[in-house]
Amino acid sequence: MSFKKLTKFIAIGALAAVVAVPAASLAAKADSLTIGFSQIGSESGWRAAETKVAKIEAQQRGITLKIADAQQKQENQIKAIRSFIAQGVDAIFLAPVVATGWDTVLGEAKQAEIPVILLDRNIDTKDDSLYMTAVTSDQVLEGHVAGEWLAKQTNGKCNIVELQGTVGSSPAINRKKGFEEAIASHPEMKITRSQSGDFTRAGGKEVMESFIKATDGGKDICAVYAHNDDMMIGAIQAMKEAGLKPGKDIITVSIDSVPDMFKAMADGDANATVELSPDMAGPAFDAIIAYKKSGTVPPKWIQTPSTLHLPDTAQAEYDKRKDMY
Ligand code: AHR
Repeated sequence: MSFKKLTKFIAIGALAAVVAVPAASLAAKADSLTIGFSQIGSESGWRAAETKVAKIEAQQRGITLKIADAQQKQENQIKAIRSFIAQGVDAIFLAPVVATGWDTVLGEAKQAEIPVILLDRNIDTKDDSLYMTAVTSDQVLEGHVAGEWLAKQTNGKCNIVELQGTVGSSPAINRKKGFEEAIASHPEMKITRSQSGDFTRAGGKEVMESFIKATDGGKDICAVYAHNDDMMIGAIQAMKEAGLKPGKDIITVSIDSVPDMFKAMADGDANATVELSPDMAGPAFDAIIAYKKSGTVPPKWIQTPSTLHLPDTAQAEYDKRKDMY
């Protein structure tokens, strides 16, 4: 898809629909702003889309965006933040790979009076003044949505295997918590196996293969819950290679709503996905523009929606999104 077409898609399509941005702020320009974005890496289709959308949203607003790819390492993110501070950027966006260990470096940003905005993941800190706002989904809610849907689907009876995200990351912690809370009132729903696939397709496939092996060909598995779609795509492949029918023999529910998952649902290989908007940067740019222009302090949390998608709309959703990832 051309840049022009993609830009139009964002303006009129799904992203504009799911993230409510005031019209006035969309019009805001910030020609002189330079923002440093410490991105985790490109472990998933969702992450790559977040980076792509951030570049487009920056360009639309005339912002200079410097992106540092941390290749999944917190130490690289810390180095990038220090480099952004040394360069005197106007703001720093941080997608934190793990939740802990940020106080020192964010203290340095605060000391330098550079506002920090968290994108898509949260941090564990006792000092909320270390960041200005967080643009994230409610990750506990995502787990709830997935768990409640599965409970209905199985009449509260199901042995579940879980593919966790990156150990120590806020979505892995919170999506697990939310899902466990949702199934807690169903005594015959149990997570029988749970392991990290690190949010990658390869990780999801490998872990699912080991689960299938350990259960004599997947005999005991009623459903897979994956903390993201990429791991589920890997798991679907593992199920097929083991002679199982994903989406039929084993129910699937995961999070992100990337085009490949809609394709899998349309093909009958998957059952449900909870949407995570890849447009985290747009609302963050608007927040920083308003702050720089008029001192408007944004709310501490800018929440993006967590909509459940099912196979009935999968083909239409796929057609709508396939070119933007
Ligand atoms: O923090 C958001 C998560 O990170 C997405 O669900 C996953 O795909 C990504 O890697």
